[in-house]
Amino acid sequence: MSAPSPYGFASARLAASAIRQRIGTELPVAGIVLGSGLGGLAQRIVAAVSMPFGDVPGFPTVTVVGHAGQLIAGTLAGRQVIALAGRFHMYEGHDAALAGFSVRVLHALGARTLFVSNAAGGIRRTFRAGDLMLIRDQLNLTGRNPLVGALEPGDERFPDMSEPYDNEYARQLGAHALTLGIPLQEGVYGGLLGPTYETPSEVRMLAALGADAVGMSTVPEVIVARALAMRVAGISCITNLAAGISPHPLSHAEVLETTTRVASRFEALVERFVERLA
Ligand code: HPA
Repeated sequence: MSAPSPYGFASARLAASAIRQRIGTELPVAGIVLGSGLGGLAQRIVAAVSMPFGDVPGFPTVTVVGHAGQLIAGTLAGRQVIALAGRFHMYEGHDAALAGFSVRVLHALGARTLFVSNAAGGIRRTFRAGDLMLIRDQLNLTGRNPLVGALEPGDERFPDMSEPYDNEYARQLGAHALTLGIPLQEGVYGGLLGPTYETPSEVRMLAALGADAVGMSTVPEVIVARALAMRVAGISCITNLAAGISPHPLSHAEVLETTTRVASRFEALVERFVERLA
């Protein structure tokens, strides 16, 4: 029998109660995780109260450039939301359970819908840097799983993963994109541990396995969300073509440059999604 996880149900409840003391007790219609360079959505949140991750019990401080490391609560399109500008990655040396812990905290705060976003490399040949991709499924190629360990209260022991990203949410996002005139690709997100970008051979392997985009986050969050029966919507910002497809070396600077370019389209889409959420 393993010891209780420091990133489990009890710790999430503790974190949620500290957050509520700061931001109030209004229930969020959604929790939103903002990926690298996509934190600008926080500026659209009205009457926002923010809390640095360092003030949340159980959260370590964020180390990645392009990630603010703040929790922001307030209204987006008139709806109460809680956004996380920044996340915990396994390549920083964090446990898979910590990578999923922020989702447990959002759940403890009352969120039953999770919106995830990330920067990703484009594998599918028709993708271009700057495309937004509706995530339809994921490949967990991290070698880790955030649910390993003692069963947490409220978790499924063997969560069904046949619809990790909610079909109805995907349909809604497709419709919103059409209405707003935002081109939207769709595909499968391949999640790797990182922190190296892939080799060209690895990218060919990922393509053969069915990945349309590749990144280093999101997968543990979505696994935890499904274990808690949360419904998930997800968007990848294709910030670059993956290694071997891109004509030049990959860099985090390019990733952030592209997210800046597409931020307003991304934000408009998330805002509409939240506005129309039942
Ligand atoms: N590979 C992995 N992660 C990424 C990439 C990539 O090409 N681009 C942005 N995040």
